[in-house]
Amino acid sequence: MSSKSDFISDIWKDGLFDNKVVFCTGGAGTICSAQVRALVYLGANACIVGRNVEKTERVAKEIATVRPGAKVIGIGAVDVRKYDNLEAAAQRCAKELGGIDYVIAGAAGNFLASIEQISVNAFKSVIDIDVLGSYHTLKATLPYLLKSAEKHRYDGKTHIPSPLGTGGRIIFVSATLHYRAMPFQAHVSVAKAGIDALSDSVALEYGPRGITSNIIAPGPIESTEGVDRLIPSHLKEANIQAQPLGRLGHVRDIGDATVYVFSDAGNYLTGQTLVVDGAHWRMSGAG
Ligand code: HXC
Repeated sequence: MSSKSDFISDIWKDGLFDNKVVFCTGGAGTICSAQVRALVYLGANACIVGRNVEKTERVAKEIATVRPGAKVIGIGAVDVRKYDNLEAAAQRCAKELGGIDYVIAGAAGNFLASIEQISVNAFKSVIDIDVLGSYHTLKATLPYLLKSAEKHRYDGKTHIPSPLGTGGRIIFVSATLHYRAMPFQAHVSVAKAGIDALSDSVALEYGPRGITSNIIAPGPIESTEGVDRLIPSHLKEANIQAQPLGRLGHVRDIGDATVYVFSDAGNYLTGQTLVVDGAHWRMSGAG
């Protein structure tokens, strides 16, 4: 079981996301589960989907413990590369939890491989998981997001916090490595650039219907699959010392950013990338 400080800072108002529902792909992973924990702690119910049945159901149960009465559904055997899987999961989420107000598209593939050595199928796998998977997530949840956006649309005049709260918001989880490019990450860089373009398109195309779309781009976050894969353990200490803020990120940094984007404070934020990386990517040679 995690304690509150593992996924959220102590500055947010309890009940901020009461009666709201979040749908999250990759929700059993370290970063996305912290994002969902933060929202559930502040009142939301959630549905997390993933490929691994046992892991997805276990993490859903763990997340539910952060708030008495929280409903968190874990739907396993969902491959984001298969649209039907996502459509069924979104339908089940809406049926059991009453709709979908927020979406986090977080499923991602990643491994180090050179352009020469990576197989055509391996390159395609990462593109399919990241780009196609994000698109499938968006498409399957869009009808619910539109309904929520219509109900919660902020007119720029109502007193904040508006009594109904927010809805119709999507966060795509991306990265920073494609800003400079990174050796052995061509497949991931191409995929993340595609995700960024998708988010921007959603912001423009669906802004007029009240939807906001933003990217959260985590930097090196400690104890995550991404860092474990990309930073060899013997280089970790040197890597920490080299960070502009002298530390790696914490999943709580991503939880807090997520709360901001989905809260009333994020009403005018769309088509943006929130880089939560302690300025890591600006360092010469960083990914
Ligand atoms: C080279 C590899 C490989 C590896 C798999 N493949 N692992 N190639 N190096 N380490 C190849 C396989 O040989 C196969 O190609 C193809 O990829 C598909 O593999 P499958 O085993 O069929 O599995 P599949 O279900 O398609 O998915 C595989 C996967 C995925 C893409 C590797 O399981 C995965 O990435 N899991 C890791 C998830 C993860 O850690 N996510 C966090 C992302 S962090 P062939 O040709 O043999 O058929 C992130 C942030 C980055 O995104 C930034 C951090 C700072």
